[in-house]
Amino acid sequence: MSERIDLAALPHDFLWGTATAAYQIEGAVAEDGRTPSIWDTFSHTPGKVANGDTGDVACDHYHRWREDIGLMRQLGVNAYRLSVAWPRVVPGGTGPVNPKGLAFYDELVDALLEAGITPSVTLYHWDLPQVLQDRGGWPERDTAFALAEYASAVATRLGDRVKLWATLNEPSCSAWIGHLEGKMAPGWTDLTAAVRASVHLLLGHGLAAQAIRAAAPGAQVGIVNNLSTVHAATDRPEDIAAARRHDGHVNRWWLDPVHGRGFPADMVETYGVELPLYAGDLTTIATSLDWLGLNYYFPAYVADAPDAPAPYLRAVRREGVPRTGMDWEIDASGIETLLLRLTEDYGARKIYVTENGSAFPDAVRPDGGIDDPERQDYLERHLAACASAARKGAPLAGYFAWSLLDNFEWAYGYDKRFGLVHVDYRTQVRTIKGSGHRYADLVRVHRGQTRRAA
Ligand code: FCB
Repeated sequence: MSERIDLAALPHDFLWGTATAAYQIEGAVAEDGRTPSIWDTFSHTPGKVANGDTGDVACDHYHRWREDIGLMRQLGVNAYRLSVAWPRVVPGGTGPVNPKGLAFYDELVDALLEAGITPSVTLYHWDLPQVLQDRGGWPERDTAFALAEYASAVATRLGDRVKLWATLNEPSCSAWIGHLEGKMAPGWTDLTAAVRASVHLLLGHGLAAQAIRAAAPGAQVGIVNNLSTVHAATDRPEDIAAARRHDGHVNRWWLDPVHGRGFPADMVETYGVELPLYAGDLTTIATSLDWLGLNYYFPAYVADAPDAPAPYLRAVRREGVPRTGMDWEIDASGIETLLLRLTEDYGARKIYVTENGSAFPDAVRPDGGIDDPERQDYLERHLAACASAARKGAPLAGYFAWSLLDNFEWAYGYDKRFGLVHVDYRTQVRTIKGSGHRYADLVRVHRGQTRRAA
């Protein structure tokens, strides 16, 4: 398949990375002054996470990070996207900074740089300090200002070495899945709260972007959205209208405001909730960005469902199409479509694929090796689509495979394995899977090509 990946379309300084998030890998939830986040609370609430799994230990990365950097070196990657745990750094949500919390990331960043790996730091990957949830969480305006305060503390400490910053990871999941569908922390099902949360997340993004730049001149700031290609399940006008609403819900609601276009009017009408906006907020939300992060996993097929909660539609499961172990449909063309949409419709100047990957049940061979041809195929197809988008003009500057390690897959717990590296959760032994070796090969080939060209 590698002959079908147009690696030469990718720039010579392309970032080849892997991605993780704090709560999914770190463990050590009560160590060195960390306080609980909404995900500690959620995962410890019976019935919320498969098998009652929690992030208490996860991949024990908090203690094994040196080994994990060693794995990155073996993969030959030159970048790593990590997230910082807010409740480690500012255990009270606002106020005093915890020196031990910052020291952990400080050491990690130094070791990454020493290994020739560029760190890309995401400030908020869903682990809101529980104390802030107790004060109302994202539906409250104050939470946006708290994010900026925390962002400033992290950027002040790491900004001399970290250049790539993301404010939020997938705010649509925080708002919609966390506050409307109730399947992620904090587990609410309240449209008004969800819409308020969405506005405050984006306000927090703008404030945090400004705070990062003030603390760390030269910082390159972006936001990470998970976007989907959206299709109507049939050509009935009602389903086509539903597809338009879904596009508004998962794509435009998150892209338009940060590009200075305000919140999409059709969706404001669909939700029917007054937006908690004050003078100047839209300008703050539209603070200029250096790059956009795209997380892509699957396309969406939707049908009109007037009796469903807003936005009045349901996902349609198509038969006879390839799917991952998450039951997500596989369609690599979607990542190309979205990269070109960000380029053409939103004028993106720089894009990173900040996440892309697949879960499949892995079988460990008697000799301990792991063949994962389906994950490898997913990786190759999506990389080919990325290279094709770059060839057509998308300013793609990097690709971060989700994930470095098998980890705590939120409400699915440890059953769903996304890693290029297998983790045996009983022993914490890590083993690079076939897909990981394949990724390393591709990185090497690209490096060889660009070196020859130079
Ligand atoms: C994304 C999340 C990431 C991971 C992948 C599979 O939505 O950002 O943490 O769980 O899905």
